[in-house]
Amino acid sequence: MKVLIFGATGRTGQHLTTMAAARGLQVLAAGRDQARLQALQGVADAVALDLFDDQQVVSTVRALVPDVIISTVGAGPSERRMVDEDGNNAISNAAAACGVRRVLQVSSLACGDSRAYASERIIAAIGPVLEAKTRAEDHLRALDLDWTIIRPGGLTEGEPTGNGALYEDPRVHGRINRADLAEMVLKCLDAPGSIKRVLATVDRTTLPLEPADLREFQL
Ligand SMILES: NC(=O)c1ccc[n+]([C@@H]2O[C@H](COP(=O)([O-])OP(=O)(O)OC[C@H]3O[C@@H](n4cnc5c(N)ncnc54)[C@H](OP(=O)(O)O)[C@@H]3O)[C@@H](O)[C@H]2O)c1
Repeated sequence: MKVLIFGATGRTGQHLTTMAAARGLQVLAAGRDQARLQALQGVADAVALDLFDDQQVVSTVRALVPDVIISTVGAGPSERRMVDEDGNNAISNAAAACGVRRVLQVSSLACGDSRAYASERIIAAIGPVLEAKTRAEDHLRALDLDWTIIRPGGLTEGEPTGNGALYEDPRVHGRINRADLAEMVLKCLDAPGSIKRVLATVDRTTLPLEPADLREFQL
């Protein structure tokens, strides 16, 4: 399986790239930062590109012919344009234009229907980013693709714990480290049960006590 990872130079993306390659997948690592791309040489084939250049995104996807596209891009409010929306939409549009059906997009808790359960603190801190990510989710969901949207809780650093879990429930709160998030994305990669689903993911040991009736989603 040939996997094209956008955001491969990022903190989650680097875990994803090395873990996917270790599983024997052919990995194409896309990012902007040349030094971080070079660091991935030997693990994956590096692809330098700026997601704000829609034509470059389409021509890259057309040339590489991946079986699966994963997006773990993000930037936050300091960017003039938001890669969380424009970059993700460029990726989704390129997938649709080039016939790549399988697309996994890393979004965030507090997007879409989970916003109703988000804290006022998080909305005050990064509300516009969450709104941009929500619009990108909606854009992807409207396309005729085999999509999966994965909404992690607060991201932390650390070794893989094996405690990552998926939930099809907007009420989830919690944290997950980036290595465990990468593991959850790879778990969904070729799982038919994850297609056209919006799945929250957190480390199950960080779940608050309430609500008590949350059930893990089994792929
Ligand atoms: N921080 C949290 O607590 C939290 C919580 C929930 C969800 N999330 C989301 O989870 C995902 C992973 O987060 P992370 O912290 O691991 O990511 P990160 O380290 O910030 O990496 C972001 C990636 O996006 C790429 N990118 C940004 N703008 C780009 C552009 N114009 N063209 C090409 N690539 C571009 C960066 O590439 P370069 O480095 O090469 O520029 C980098 O690879 C993101 O979507 C994030 O928003 C984060």
